[in-house]
Amino acid sequence: MDRDDPAYRGQSDYSRALLRLYDPLVLGPIARFVWRFPTKEQVRLYREHIRPIHLDVGPGTGYFLEHAGFPDDSRVTILDPNANVLRYVTRRLRRLDVTAVQADVLKPLPAPGPFESAALSLVLHCLPGPMARKSLAIENIARVMAPGGVLFGASVLGRSANHTRLGRAFLWAFNKRGAFDNLDDTEAGLRDILGRSFRNVELQTIAGTAIFVAADPLNPSGEPEPTG
Ligand SMILES: C[S@@+](CC[C@H](N)C(=O)[O-])C[C@H]1O[C@@H](n2cnc3c(N)ncnc32)[C@H](O)[C@@H]1O
Repeated sequence: MDRDDPAYRGQSDYSRALLRLYDPLVLGPIARFVWRFPTKEQVRLYREHIRPIHLDVGPGTGYFLEHAGFPDDSRVTILDPNANVLRYVTRRLRRLDVTAVQADVLKPLPAPGPFESAALSLVLHCLPGPMARKSLAIENIARVMAPGGVLFGASVLGRSANHTRLGRAFLWAFNKRGAFDNLDDTEAGLRDILGRSFRNVELQTIAGTAIFVAADPLNPSGEPEPTG
């Protein structure tokens, strides 16, 4: 990804060193004490909604895919602009049938599909705002999904959410660094962008993090775009 692309900073921190620290640090104390968002909720979300032909956008270390209860040799496609992420997850998930796609979710996806499920877990808050631009990610994913498919995930909300003082300090620091761009992200905005691409949207906010399940894409893979 070009350094001057607005999405560059949201993915550039994921070096091999950070990926090694991610599970014990980000999914451990940072999830628990900073965002007050239990990692086991995310595992539950994966276990409940993942389906046999799955697309995982921004898989990070692949922790949730590893704990999703997928049988050996299941087909999974991982999509991320960061080559370190794709290498790390492919190695970790050797027991699955992994296809790695280096791409930006804000651009039309070069992933074959159609996918029965897709995850966008803790990625939206890394994408460049405003929310109207983030809606491109949802549209692009919906377009490669099968009719009746389900998109699920979570995202840390912005300054108007119920963060503690510690959470706010991290929110500002991560936004200043550019790893996050979510100060203006709201639950209503997230519901709105999901609802533009999916018929059924369920959303729940725990502390300052929204968890979503969006089913039944409006323009799934293989169906013509509406005219007019
Ligand atoms: C905070 S990590 C989340 C990792 C994992 N999904 C989880 O829930 O722990 C953000 C992930 O999104 C990826 N990412 C950032 N910007 C992206 C973009 N424009 N398109 C696709 N993936 C992106 C990063 O490279 C990283 O893998």
